[in-house]
Amino acid sequence: MTRKHSIIIGGTKGVGRELAVLLATTGQYVTAVGRTPGEFPTVPGGEVEGFAGTAEDPEALLAALRQQVERRGQLSSLVFLQRYRGTGDTWAGELAVAMTATKTLLEGLVPHLAADGDRSVCVVTSNAGSLVARNQSLGYHTSKAALRQMARYYAVKYGPQGVRVNVVAPSAFVKSESAAFYAGHPELQAVYARATPLGRMGTAKEVARAVAFLCGPDAAFITGQELVVDGGLSLMMQDALAREVAGIA
Ligand SMILES: NC(=O)c1ccc[n+]([C@@H]2O[C@H](COP(=O)([O-])OP(=O)(O)OC[C@H]3O[C@@H](n4cnc5c(N)ncnc54)[C@H](OP(=O)(O)O)[C@@H]3O)[C@@H](O)[C@H]2O)c1
Repeated sequence: MTRKHSIIIGGTKGVGRELAVLLATTGQYVTAVGRTPGEFPTVPGGEVEGFAGTAEDPEALLAALRQQVERRGQLSSLVFLQRYRGTGDTWAGELAVAMTATKTLLEGLVPHLAADGDRSVCVVTSNAGSLVARNQSLGYHTSKAALRQMARYYAVKYGPQGVRVNVVAPSAFVKSESAAFYAGHPELQAVYARATPLGRMGTAKEVARAVAFLCGPDAAFITGQELVVDGGLSLMMQDALAREVAGIA
């Protein structure tokens, strides 16, 4: 088999960047897409290419990625992590970047999944797809909830072609870009530690590992599923959470 090639939309920062490097360490060629290409370390055996393109113009991005497939080979996996990070209207922005771009790119790139590859698609959502956070927009919440159902729809549609479509739903995690913020707020980390059954916040690397699992051969008979990566936080009853945070047993 030729070297596996995977595309990560939103692969230049945070979880996407961790995943790009992780897949490259397994020998893959990884195309990591962001509005800016980012910089990646040299990975023995594999390679990450930072690829500049915006999900705000999904047709143009699709055309560019089809050319990338011609250069680098048919795809093993396709991962969607992008969210709207612009300064405009968040409703229009999230619907365009998170939802319309995922639909356009997924439908346009599934035909380029290699017959001998992992034939997997993974969409990263959030606990904001089912719970509500004051610091995130309506567009963010709505798109995350819709992406889960979009993935289930595509799992059924493309299953007969051997294509698996799954979802990873993380809670807030620490990534290299936010490490200094959390280090500067130990009181916030302490609350997470009390509220989370596993006693700490997760990391971008741990979320990336869950995506890599769902994309890889160990998940060969899993499709249309949502893997929650939150240390058990979502298991906690709100009343119990309040008592934990208040320090009342
Ligand atoms: N951070 C958390 O604690 C958290 C919690 C729950 C769920 N999540 C979800 O996990 C995923 C990853 O989050 P993250 O915090 O690791 O990364 P992030 O900062 O949200 O960045 C995601 C990636 O998307 C790219 N991107 C943004 N706008 C784009 C556009 N218009 N076109 C193409 N690429 C674009 C970014 O690169 P550029 O900026 O260069 O474009 C970056 O590579 C997201 O879907 C997020 O909603 C995050």
